[in-house]
Amino acid sequence: MRHLLTLETLPGAKIAHLLERAEDFRTRGRQRDLLVDRTVLNLFFEPSTRTRTSFEIAARRLGADVVNFDLSRSSTTKGESLLDTLHTLEAMRLDALVVRHNENRMPDWLAEHANTDVAIINAGDGSRAHPTQGLLDALTIRQHRRNLENLAIVICGDIRHSRVARSDVHAFTALGARDIRLCAPRALLPEDTSEFAGCVVSEDFDAALDNADVVIMLRIQKERMAAALLPADSDYFAQYGLDARRLALAAPDCMVLHPGPINRGVEIAGEVADGAQSRILDQVSNGVFVRMAVLAELLAPRA
Ligand code: NCD
Repeated sequence: MRHLLTLETLPGAKIAHLLERAEDFRTRGRQRDLLVDRTVLNLFFEPSTRTRTSFEIAARRLGADVVNFDLSRSSTTKGESLLDTLHTLEAMRLDALVVRHNENRMPDWLAEHANTDVAIINAGDGSRAHPTQGLLDALTIRQHRRNLENLAIVICGDIRHSRVARSDVHAFTALGARDIRLCAPRALLPEDTSEFAGCVVSEDFDAALDNADVVIMLRIQKERMAAALLPADSDYFAQYGLDARRLALAAPDCMVLHPGPINRGVEIAGEVADGAQSRILDQVSNGVFVRMAVLAELLAPRA
């Protein structure tokens, strides 16, 4: 593995191996000698709280140097092209470049145009992929259920614009999940759902929740859509918000996930986000272990 761009093309065995490595880091904690003298640069063209911070913490726990590229003060504001920025950064001898960008496939483009053997890690590109989020969601499910094969997993919300939903489906399918239910109002489903062949796609959230083992709620990505697509927050919550009444339709021990940032009262009630079935903060903790595993795998492969 040279880069991590998407989970779509990663075999299930590789995904399982990354999760095992993440579980190992969860047990062992830091390993500061692993990436000594390595430099990781965070290049985020979109806002981020969890992803950027956890990549930084992960890299530091493995002993790497981390640089957070400050876009608002960089020469990209002076018109420097992305290609020139890439080659400039590469000349400083980076080992890994963690990229978030609003255009689909921008991390792949950087990987194709790199002059050095810098590892490109996709931290979210447009609506296409968010591979470390897919991995950390799978890790969180495994932490509480071991095995994904017999679970009914519901993903509800802005599926159309969600790179999280796409990477989740790739990860869960590769790990053997057979009952994945995607749910959203028509306007928030992709026009062509063939990329989700194998999943059940519906607009009826109550029906989708029937006996579910896992429910993953997604934020409405207002920044990726025209105002005309937007439902009013209160109408949306009435039909697609996860509150205690709706959660009771799922299996009694159904776990609740959300990649964050949460909009309370829009897609999820505060009582559910903070409730006994919520595993949202486990996701955040697991995000660090998964990113340690990915950095270790790319920069310090095991023999
Ligand atoms: C997600 C993202 O940026 O794709 N957040 C995250 O990385 N945890 C989801 C979102 O922004 O709604």
